[in-house]
Amino acid sequence: MESYQLKNGTKVFQYGLPIETKAVIAPKRKMKLKCDLDVKFQKDGTTISIELLSEDRIYGLGENLGGINKRGRIYESYCTDTPSHIEDREKLYSAHNFFIVSGKVVRGYFIDFPGRITYDMGYYNQKDINIKIYGQNFYIYILEGKDEKEVSSKFLEIIGKSYVPPKWGFGYFQSRWGYRNKEEVKKVYKTFKENDIPIEGIYLDLDYMDNFKDFTISQERFSGFKEFVEDLKKEGIYLIPIIDAGVKVENGYDIYEEGMKGDYFCKDKEGKPYEGVVWPGKVHFPDFMKKETQSWFGDKYQKLTDSGIEGFWNDMNEPAIFYEQEALEKAVEYAQKKLKNKNLDVFSYFKLKDNFTSLANRDSYYKNFYHEIDGKKVCNEKVHNLYGYFMTKSTYEALRKILKGKRFLLISRSSSIGMHRYGGIWTGDNSSWWFHLEQNMKMLPSLNMCGFFYIGADTGGFGGNCNGELLTRWLQLSIFTPLLRNHSAMGCNNQEPYAFTKKVLKNTRNLIKARYSLIPYIYSEYMKSVNHYHLMFQPLSFEFKDVLAKEIEDQILLGDQVMIAPVCAPNYKGRYVYFPEEMLEISFMHPKKMIGIRKKGIHYINYRLEDLKFFIRKNAMIPYVKSCKNLKELDQKNLKILAYVDNEAIYNLYDDDGISYDFIKGKRFSTRIKIIKKENNYEIKVHNTNPSIKNIEFKIIDSENHITEKDISFINKNQ
Ligand code: GLC
Repeated sequence: MESYQLKNGTKVFQYGLPIETKAVIAPKRKMKLKCDLDVKFQKDGTTISIELLSEDRIYGLGENLGGINKRGRIYESYCTDTPSHIEDREKLYSAHNFFIVSGKVVRGYFIDFPGRITYDMGYYNQKDINIKIYGQNFYIYILEGKDEKEVSSKFLEIIGKSYVPPKWGFGYFQSRWGYRNKEEVKKVYKTFKENDIPIEGIYLDLDYMDNFKDFTISQERFSGFKEFVEDLKKEGIYLIPIIDAGVKVENGYDIYEEGMKGDYFCKDKEGKPYEGVVWPGKVHFPDFMKKETQSWFGDKYQKLTDSGIEGFWNDMNEPAIFYEQEALEKAVEYAQKKLKNKNLDVFSYFKLKDNFTSLANRDSYYKNFYHEIDGKKVCNEKVHNLYGYFMTKSTYEALRKILKGKRFLLISRSSSIGMHRYGGIWTGDNSSWWFHLEQNMKMLPSLNMCGFFYIGADTGGFGGNCNGELLTRWLQLSIFTPLLRNHSAMGCNNQEPYAFTKKVLKNTRNLIKARYSLIPYIYSEYMKSVNHYHLMFQPLSFEFKDVLAKEIEDQILLGDQVMIAPVCAPNYKGRYVYFPEEMLEISFMHPKKMIGIRKKGIHYINYRLEDLKFFIRKNAMIPYVKSCKNLKELDQKNLKILAYVDNEAIYNLYDDDGISYDFIKGKRFSTRIKIIKKENNYEIKVHNTNPSIKNIEFKIIDSENHITEKDISFINKNQ
């Protein structure tokens, strides 16, 4: 075993000869260190156990179901197309192997291994974490710190900064699998406009392609694509097309033919391109582990950027496989043999049924194809969790070149740690279930801990039929998530904000307007979190150390200023909220009566469908502006500040041009606002370098509920 130390003190233990995933980018320095973990090598892998004390809590593991506290459950890292996120689902689309154990001491662990890992987080044996790594070559990173915040910051530091989308990526996006042609897409935009609902863009699902072929456009349904893209762009609307991992096997299809000629696909056992079946029928999978494939496939995105496209979603990149031809044939053969003139007993019936229902994404498929890594043949099973990561890295690198200095929107379904530097993620095919709204909230801090900041779930739920109440409640949460997309599956009822009653339309319109109002705050918190290696969303327990705060699972903190507590069940007119300290209750839709101080403790909070509630912490403030129909029209001239000040509050409002990468070189704007409470008044100091802000209106509340309003006007002068 080799050992190393990173600059920030992280210890690294190397077992065997691991595959370099480049999840961590901090340089390693060799150092003799002792690993105190109980690591056991067995024939079929490696096990690690970590003792759990009764007070220990576990955080992290990114995209996974379960609580904010991950203890008492089983998880698996093996990226899978999992259409039904039922309660005991152990794995989803991504593999995020970082977690923190917090009790008497706080320690973070990252297992850098691209194959399967299972975690028993105190499920069978409450006193232990039992991890099984399906291999013997890996790195373990151990991070220590005084608390969870410090440990997670250290981890964010070593894996590198998150991807940053353009500012318009923070707008509202509508999506649906089943906007069948460009007229339907235009109609969606038109209906948003007619109903005065802000919108930034529309995602294009499979429907735009010719026969599910990547980088093609259906001439029948989406002819004149370039003009169509440009026309909508003139209205301020971006189109975001989907790209799938599998390339259709079809003579005459240029991508397929180039892929064959260039030897860009994954191989089967015999060295022929591996064949699986996905949307278009038989497909080959680009071997993203090969440099040549990365640049070949990446360059193909230009086919769409040439039409004015500036954003993509990479899908089915676990990769999802509906079936292998041979497996299907076996199932059919069995059915034929069993069915004819037979009276099936229950066991044969179940077997027959399972033969078909288990066809998709079988483990055995991933043993049947190979990648080429540095000239060596490596079975997919061994590097399975890197597929979506490397696909998205290829896209990112190509788009950086193609779009020159312009930022672009990029999300992927499958990911592992490292991919966060190249794109965001949506959390896959959830359903229109209340439980999934709650899961959406719980996942946010865990995803941040694993480096993913541009995140969001399919608002309203992908599968199943959403109703107006669920959509409204879901928006009350999604208004705060960097990626805000309402998406649903083909065959489900429509779930655009206007698809329900007038009342739902009014409420959802107001919520989306509120999102646009809050953009200065959301963007600022996003960028500061990314730049300073902080979490944007935190469990309460990271900030407050009392017993209740540690156990709260249905409230989270956004930045250092705000607590959110969404309603995640039907029929409620409010909910109990725990206030770990005194906070200011905000009823954002009702500016006249939006204010009230809540003392520390548990309070029942009225939370109507027509509202947007959040809570500002003591000595904190949030900035917002007038709403707009899309972010091109965002006007920050009159910035508004809502503050709860008892003695002194400071806020640094971050901003930049929203489109270039100049922010990396330090071209950023800042507005530093300091409010100090004096006896009967407030002293306000503003240092502003943001030329778009000309005036600031303050509404300041103190703990006696006194409201003070002030207005500061300045034109590029510091105060
Ligand atoms: C996958 C995606 C979903 C998309 C569908 C059709 O299920 O997760 O978002 O709508 O494929 O492309």
